[in-house]
Amino acid sequence: MTEKTISPEDYDNFRTYLESACGIILGDNKHYLVTSRLNRLMKEFSISCIGELVKQSDKNRQLHNRIVDAMTTNETFWFRDSHPFEILKDKILSEFSADTKRSQPFKIWSAAASSGQEAYSISMMIEEFTQSRPGSLRQGVQIVGTDISPTMLEDARTARYDKAAILRGISEERKKKFFTEKGIKWEVNPAIRQRASFTELNLMSDYATLGKFDIIYCRNVLIYFSTDTKRDIITRMARTLNPGGYLFVGASESLNYSEAFDMVRCNPGVVYKLKG
Ligand SMILES: C[S@@+](CC[C@H](N)C(=O)[O-])C[C@H]1O[C@@H](n2cnc3c(N)ncnc32)[C@H](O)[C@@H]1O
Repeated sequence: MTEKTISPEDYDNFRTYLESACGIILGDNKHYLVTSRLNRLMKEFSISCIGELVKQSDKNRQLHNRIVDAMTTNETFWFRDSHPFEILKDKILSEFSADTKRSQPFKIWSAAASSGQEAYSISMMIEEFTQSRPGSLRQGVQIVGTDISPTMLEDARTARYDKAAILRGISEERKKKFFTEKGIKWEVNPAIRQRASFTELNLMSDYATLGKFDIIYCRNVLIYFSTDTKRDIITRMARTLNPGGYLFVGASESLNYSEAFDMVRCNPGVVYKLKG
């Protein structure tokens, strides 16, 4: 299938459909992206054009979910941008461990978890922190990874990564410490996995079922949304944070449209703190 097979009308309808399904905005010239990502699905469902695909997805929830899954960009890697993990270890976990009154586990949300590298990088940081300070964080830390893509969540739960994925951000030392070689893959060790669970969630939907968090990582996903959608998501995320909670966004993202947070410069890197 080539770019020519999408009529301008079908392309516009598809853009509207995708934005209302998951918030993702397509630029004016992403015809090739659309056709290349949906080609296989259209063959599988014997559908000849994007207009028909959208029409059929109205009556077919499975097809709808498969379209959205196929249109997501799932790029991720271990310890991406490094600062959000250093700030966690050097600043936030120290604050948490000074909170001796707290009896409940601390909760961290990886809100666009993709195949799990962010959630497991957080867990590795916690492991290194508690090993260097025996007896700290006795309340425990729970990490909840969510994503709209069931395919990615399945990879995250399986927690087995091929060589190409492992080479992106894991040092030899961490590979030895936190992974076990299983054939041609490396599996994340139980001590790191047991802190993390993964569940499907569309960021456009309600977050109430997730409960409250102390930290949210919402990185490299807001870039796909309109300013109105970003503002709505960040407003609702602010409500899911406990007082004094923290929010990390991607290196190229900022919160200049939200009043709910103070920016804390950590040199290097920044984190956003819920206003008191
Ligand atoms: C580029 S990845 C970012 C992964 C990770 N946070 C990182 O920074 O490395 C973006 C992820 O956002 C997910 N995503 C896109 N739209 C979403 C939505 N409406 N709700 C939940 N997840 C969404 C995609 O499936 C994808 O896995």
